[in-house]
Amino acid sequence: MDNFTYHNPTKLIFGKGQLDALPSEVAQYGKKVLVVYGGGSIKRNGIYDNVMEKLAEINAEVFELSGVEPNPRISTVRKGVEICKSESIDFILAVGGGSTIDCTKAIAVGAATDTDMWNIITKKAQANDALPFGTVLTHAATGSEMNSGSVITNWETNEKYGWGYAPFTYPKFSILDPTHTISVPSDQTVYGIVDMMSHVFEHYFHQATNTKVQDRFCEGVLTTVMETAPKLLDNLESYEHRETIMLSGTLALNNMLSMGFSGDWASHNLEHAVSAVHDIPHGGGLAIIFPNWMKHVLDDENAPRFKQLAMRVFDVDPTGKSDKETALEGINRLRDFWTSIGAPATLAEYGIDDSSVESMAEKTVTMRAEYGGFKKLNKQDSLAILQASL
Ligand code: NZQ
Ligand code: ZN
Repeated sequence: MDNFTYHNPTKLIFGKGQLDALPSEVAQYGKKVLVVYGGGSIKRNGIYDNVMEKLAEINAEVFELSGVEPNPRISTVRKGVEICKSESIDFILAVGGGSTIDCTKAIAVGAATDTDMWNIITKKAQANDALPFGTVLTHAATGSEMNSGSVITNWETNEKYGWGYAPFTYPKFSILDPTHTISVPSDQTVYGIVDMMSHVFEHYFHQATNTKVQDRFCEGVLTTVMETAPKLLDNLESYEHRETIMLSGTLALNNMLSMGFSGDWASHNLEHAVSAVHDIPHGGGLAIIFPNWMKHVLDDENAPRFKQLAMRVFDVDPTGKSDKETALEGINRLRDFWTSIGAPATLAEYGIDDSSVESMAEKTVTMRAEYGGFKKLNKQDSLAILQASL
């Protein structure tokens, strides 16, 4: 493995009733709190009222930014930055899923600079600081609650980029009560499951050697999610299964699984290009693209890695098969598993046809001509994977 330093400063507060910790956590940062949330699920399931009650305990002066979109937009970030600056906000609290948290990260950084946030997201300018922020997670999927990344869309230019990855873009704390995810509907639950599995795959495909313990961690998370997913989808109100999936989502992308190497991330680059042009759910896009990325990059040289995954996670029997055949069977089993839980398999299911393939492929190489840590890809590869995904 490569040398590494692991430092994750987010305080993870996990379990039933842990919202009780909110007042003392927020109080450390001040009284003026901007609460950021999405399209209203937290009002319907009661989380909004519970959060407001907790903030009242410390006499917080509460401001609100609602309506954060799934695939959060720079226009909403700018509204939040404006509130922070005009009201001298002390602390930002995200209450929601990955979109709300990512938007909050951008607001927090935007509030600490005079530069427009899009310049920072597109790396034309650098950020140096952020307002402190915390999260109350309501949807298990992205891992944004315990990482420093954020993904923001500019709908005017159809661009969607990951950015952040700075010490000040980690939440100060994240409160994860699995009961907060019980109201997540079946389709969003599936998207979250696909997303967290995809994060593990992105880690798993790397070029470092001797990563035995990391491999087993990754395989453990994957098999656990695959065992739990059908049971949860049969009983969306199961606390036990929500708990397993919630912790899995966090572990899948708090970078503990990738100590000592950088993963691939080509499939995420491809999906972000798709959802920059077509406003589709991130997990839905990944369910379509990831198996096609796997088939596209699989070759004789890297087949042993795919074979290991196929045998350990998808129970493929390698007897009498070449490494590549075993690998391919594993990929097909992944496809079948995702289809079995209701995830989409083709872009056509979102009404996407080949007329936008060229523009999506172009977006995969806007920031750099080549991408992918496991196997370098270029625009021609993007075109091929997107065509195979139609
Ligand atoms: O907006 P509301 O009304 O809250 O509804 C949301 C939204 O419609 C709903 N939802 C969330 N919690 C709920 C609930 N509905 C009922 N009950 C609850 N408890 O679920 C829908 C999806 O929410 P969203 O936050 O958009 O989903 P997710 O967590 O999957 O986040 C997706 C975004 O994160 C980015 C994606 O690209 C996408 O923009 N990502 C962020 C990453 C990161 N920061 O590390 C990594 C990921 O790979 C990903 O790219
Ligand atoms: Zn993802």
